[in-house]
Amino acid sequence: MAERHFAPDVPELRERWGGFTWDKAHAPEAARALGKYPDGRKASAVIPLLDLAQRQVGVETGTQGWLPIPVIEFVAAECGLPPIRAMEVASFYTMFNLVPVGKYHVQVCGTTPCMLRGSDDVLKACYAKGMKKGHTTPDGLFTLTEVECLGACANAPMVQINDDNFEDLTEESTAALLDALAAGKPVRTGSQIGRQTSCPEGGPTSLKKMAERNYDYRPQWADAGEGA
Ligand code: FES
Repeated sequence: MAERHFAPDVPELRERWGGFTWDKAHAPEAARALGKYPDGRKASAVIPLLDLAQRQVGVETGTQGWLPIPVIEFVAAECGLPPIRAMEVASFYTMFNLVPVGKYHVQVCGTTPCMLRGSDDVLKACYAKGMKKGHTTPDGLFTLTEVECLGACANAPMVQINDDNFEDLTEESTAALLDALAAGKPVRTGSQIGRQTSCPEGGPTSLKKMAERNYDYRPQWADAGEGA
């Protein structure tokens, strides 16, 4: 797991982000998130608002977005929270970037199932493209972060890049994926070997009739239960 820290709170940061407020595209969604909670309970909107703010910063910077401290303070004020409470939330969840990132944030899962299934090969492909953990490539295209389990272990190894998962990766398919992203070409999300969601490789091995034609096994199971 990469070390997490806030970007230094320097005058330049205040100058750039001190006037942050919702733009036209994001203001309706912010109002909708706040509107879900009654007065006195607006703190509950802190996660969606931090996410929204990060996305707006992403649009403004042409990157995946991050959370400068003045932006976190803005969100805290929207939620009626002391800034430190919003900073606690932002620093806890790795979905929030505390320092600038590139256009593509490549989050490689290095937890045990992914490690056993080849996350080192995925990292090798990233290193071959000039990436370093915790850094952004000089062209601003890729930021590499190693993260803990992202909940797609059945299709390990996997990476999350911005809002998408890419699963069942090899060194070769990771390299091809990164090349396609760099070239602005369309990429296939999810399993890279054609696996349907998290089915076994090669297709279902049980309850096959249900998978093929929505077969209802329940009468059969009820008969089996009566005979027992
Ligand atoms: S261990 Fe990698 S997604 Fe769970």
